Amino acid sequence: MSIMKIQNEFASAFSQLMLRHRSIRQYKPDAPVDSAFVDDVLVQALAGSSSSGNLNMVSVVKSFDPERRARLCELHSGQPMVLQAPLVLTFCADSQRTRDWLGQRQARLGFGDFLAWHVASFDAVILAQTTALALESHGLGICYMGTTLQSMGAIAELLELPGYCLPVTSLVVGWPDETPAQRDRLPGRAWIHEERYRPSTPESIDRDFGERERRGWDRYRSMGPEMAAQMDAHGITSLAQFYTSKIKYDPDRQAVTSEALAALLRQRGFLG
Ligand SMILES: Cc1cc2nc3c(=O)[nH]c(=O)nc-3n(C[C@H](O)[C@H](O)[C@H](O)COP(=O)(O)O)c2cc1C
Repeated sequence: MSIMKIQNEFASAFSQLMLRHRSIRQYKPDAPVDSAFVDDVLVQALAGSSSSGNLNMVSVVKSFDPERRARLCELHSGQPMVLQAPLVLTFCADSQRTRDWLGQRQARLGFGDFLAWHVASFDAVILAQTTALALESHGLGICYMGTTLQSMGAIAELLELPGYCLPVTSLVVGWPDETPAQRDRLPGRAWIHEERYRPSTPESIDRDFGERERRGWDRYRSMGPEMAAQMDAHGITSLAQFYTSKIKYDPDRQAVTSEALAALLRQRGFLG
């Protein structure tokens, strides 16, 4: 088989893998995930992820234990898949180990500032996404937990993370017990620019958001009478209004989370 053909087949398999992606929120009960297998996937995922300065300022904590996952579930706003899936992977920005290494070798200490926080966070998120694709390639299902940011301090405490190490995102992992429809994305024309940024116009907003407004509205309305009643009670008449309403990403609540995040970074030394 020619190298070109092998390359094409690999590219095509990778395209299929990406197009098959769905966040999974229902997992098969009593279908475990092997810890050593996950280690292999993680090691390969780090090999397949670029890493700033190749410093690998990342740590991943595997949580299998049901009692600890029950506590994690509380910290993830009670999202049921944290308990239902057999595994939670918490991806941490970690410059602590690098600093320990520098200290032990009598090198000048660094990586204890806001820049280091960004660099280590990028490493953690890049690794999380490579891991997600790798796990999906084995037929496993994953769902990111954005609630990691809301409970960053408490999760850090539960996982006994040291000073310059904080969780940035988490994946629940298990065997899928649902086959959700593919979720739409904004069309390329909305966010791919050539040479210069093309600002949105009222027409482009109508064109690029119209389809997702219709689909998103129908999806949330069909989630059940309770959700529909809540939306009505808050006077929500569009998907845009829903997104920044009290029941989705309430800007007041987001501001509190944002302040808590800044306070935690300050306390850990990442803000100097
Ligand atoms: C950083 C991040 C955080 C997320 N947090 C959550 C979450 O807390 N709960 C959840 O059910 N889905 C969460 N998701 C999944 C998104 O809702 C999902 O990716 C999006 O709706 C698109 O659906 P798809 O992944 O099935 O294509 C998160 C995704 C990302 C990237």
